[in-house]
Amino acid sequence: MDTTPIRIPAELVAKLRQAESVAVLTGAGISAESGVPTFRDAQTGLWARYNPEELATPEAFQRNPRLVWEWYEWRRQLVSQAEPNPGHLALVEMERRAPRFTLITQNVDGLHRRAGSRRVIELHGNIVRTICSRERLVVEQWEETGEKPPRCPRCGGFLRPDVVWFGEMLPAHALQAAIEAAREAQIFFSVGTSAVVQPAASLPFEAVRHGATLVEINLEETPVTPMAHYVLRGPAGVVLPALVEATWPPDV
Ligand code: OAD
Repeated sequence: MDTTPIRIPAELVAKLRQAESVAVLTGAGISAESGVPTFRDAQTGLWARYNPEELATPEAFQRNPRLVWEWYEWRRQLVSQAEPNPGHLALVEMERRAPRFTLITQNVDGLHRRAGSRRVIELHGNIVRTICSRERLVVEQWEETGEKPPRCPRCGGFLRPDVVWFGEMLPAHALQAAIEAAREAQIFFSVGTSAVVQPAASLPFEAVRHGATLVEINLEETPVTPMAHYVLRGPAGVVLPALVEATWPPDV
């Protein structure tokens, strides 16, 4: 791990300390240090031969519901073993300190809520929740007959994870709330996202269009980088705690 200290610009610290409203968009990169594979990095183990974008689609589920269900069972098991990392925890502290704070996540792993974040907009759903694929209503428990996917106890339709698949609409209320938060933000953070999947990827642009200071925290360049006022190149689990510590030292 690169141990060079992360330099946090004093100007950014001053801006963050006096910001009235802050919004953060996170992607798979913030959960990478919790051991959850990012979406486009190598799919480890059994799934190395599948392109995740061919599994997370209604067509894939239609074609092979068992395969898609088992893929999510594998991901749910991965997530259940993961713990929030210092990056998630730093955002909990930021929410405590900023007068108005909104956390918008594309992640479906539920780690922000497990870390203690409260105002979390889950744009792409949550892998831990299961819904009926026909009724689109949450199903909390079902009879395990060994059939995969299991069936809805109400209508007998296949169950599926409560996540947004490619080609599906995002939950309208969540997207609207995210757009409003981006427009109101004085500082907008884009953390650990490759910023290629719409409509989430347009939120940083929307924030800048409405006058926000844009900060990107990522290991690599993304389409957001050229527009960012500050680019903090490093792991979210190191950069976010350093930023929060510099802005709100524990003794303040
Ligand atoms: P990606 O896998 O596309 O991108 C992960 C980003 O995190 C990359 O830019 C990495 O450089 C960065 N990254 C990796 N490790 C990091 C670390 N420790 N600290 C900071 N950054 C790190 O994941 P997303 O951008 O989240 O949508 O993908 C967006 C959406 O595409 C996902 O929500 C999913 C996928 O299709 C759906 O499933 C609908």
